Amino acid sequence: MIIAPSLLAADFSRLAKEVHRVNRSGADWLHLDIMDGHFVPNISFGPAVVRTLRPLSKLFFDAHLMCSKPEILLEPFARAGASQINIHVELGEHVTALIWKIKSLGKRVGLAINPPTAIGLAQPYLEQIDALLIMTVQPGFGGQSFIYETLPKIQQAQAWRVEKGLAYNIGVDGGVDFKTAPECAHAGADTFISGTTLFGQRNLGAAVRKMRKLVEARKLEATPQPSTVANE
Ligand code: DX5
Ligand code: ZN
Repeated sequence: MIIAPSLLAADFSRLAKEVHRVNRSGADWLHLDIMDGHFVPNISFGPAVVRTLRPLSKLFFDAHLMCSKPEILLEPFARAGASQINIHVELGEHVTALIWKIKSLGKRVGLAINPPTAIGLAQPYLEQIDALLIMTVQPGFGGQSFIYETLPKIQQAQAWRVEKGLAYNIGVDGGVDFKTAPECAHAGADTFISGTTLFGQRNLGAAVRKMRKLVEARKLEATPQPSTVANE
């Protein structure tokens, strides 16, 4: 189970201190929301900020590119220290080339999918990705309410993972709180991106521990693998 605070909800006037707070919290990943003012109607921060934060943390940096032209940003974010780069499936014909470019940069590949987009659009890429990021709000802003209609997509992603014997992470992003995170875990999610809820607590470490405990309690049991019969 991966708990990933989203830096978007941090206090930007003291970003270095916020990163240290995440370091001490016991979180697994730091989620970095990159918005270009075109793919989404908001702008966040770019590679220079990520490069500045990189020496402050040993955490896995999960960059989420909500950008119309990620091809111009892949190298800068790889060089800035992203561990994984998520691009959006809504980019259609460009997705395959983007996936291979991220791989060639030696980074893990994530594929994000917006609430109105059919999960079937992600299916052709499942063998090539390390993580599927199911958006549970319309991307662009923190602090929105979880969209429950996205739960069947988590279940489908989990069913495909078992059926195809794949190991991609299933992440949920947006409106993930102490109530919705366990519901997502029960549907098959294993990666929980949470901004407002986690950063909103005075004690971030306690919030991370609480979310981890709740999702562990509701996670799906490991699916038994078919046993292979030797000397058949
Ligand atoms: C939404 C971003 C999310 C956001 C989540 O566009 O992709 O990562 O930071 O924030 P909360 O947890 O506040 O919904
Ligand atoms: Zn995000």
